[in-house]
Amino acid sequence: MGCAISGLAAKTDLGERNKGEDAAADGADAAALHPSEEQILMIKESWKVIRDDIAKAGIIMFVRLFETHPECKDVFFLFRHVEDLEKLRTSRELRAHGLRVMSFIEKSVARLDQLERLEALARELGKSHYHYNAPPKYFSYVGAEFICAVQPILKERWTAELEEAWKTMFQYVTSLMKQGYQEESSRQRHLTLSPKDRPEKSNTAL
Ligand code: HEM
Repeated sequence: MGCAISGLAAKTDLGERNKGEDAAADGADAAALHPSEEQILMIKESWKVIRDDIAKAGIIMFVRLFETHPECKDVFFLFRHVEDLEKLRTSRELRAHGLRVMSFIEKSVARLDQLERLEALARELGKSHYHYNAPPKYFSYVGAEFICAVQPILKERWTAELEEAWKTMFQYVTSLMKQGYQEESSRQRHLTLSPKDRPEKSNTAL
């Protein structure tokens, strides 16, 4: 289960817990920085290698996530009753799910040069996670498990700088997902309020 994550945040949670623990835990992160140009190049280069093994990496990432944060498994209707996590390593459903998540990562990598498009994609994903009942405080657990899953694929090509680049990318994407989640949560709250209880629209433009 062990995986050595180097650098500042040798934690399983990459959500910048040192900067306002509770806000991050509630999913109300401040906006994270996007990766630098140099980091984008490193991420893109490494993705060319990782992509050949995404099915395997997706499974490893989720089995690790369920091992390190069992509360995440309960969110998944298909996996919440599975006691023996080893069985998941051959599960067709987990393979398919891992591939969906990996293909989102692939799209995100491709959009690192078009940050507006990446932001829209990640916010939409955050909104759909509101409907999956996946609490935003869990989003930041995924980056560390992704890193542990792909490190062995890259072998000696893995460096501390590359790790920092992927961490930055995950912090960025998950902070946008959290924003999307919060937007959807407020929208749903507004919809369930009766019209008389809704806050009046401000007329500051008048
Ligand atoms: C970096 C973090 C994450 C990413 C990139 C991600 C990505 C995705 C993607 C691409 C899908 C496929 C459906 C769609 O596009 O809407 C999905 C579905 C889902 N995700 Fe996530 N996810 C993340 C974190 C989490 C976490 C932490 C949980 C729960 C603890 C979670 C729970 C779910 C559930 C329940 C579904 C629906 C499963 C189904 O297909 O029935 N996700 N996620």
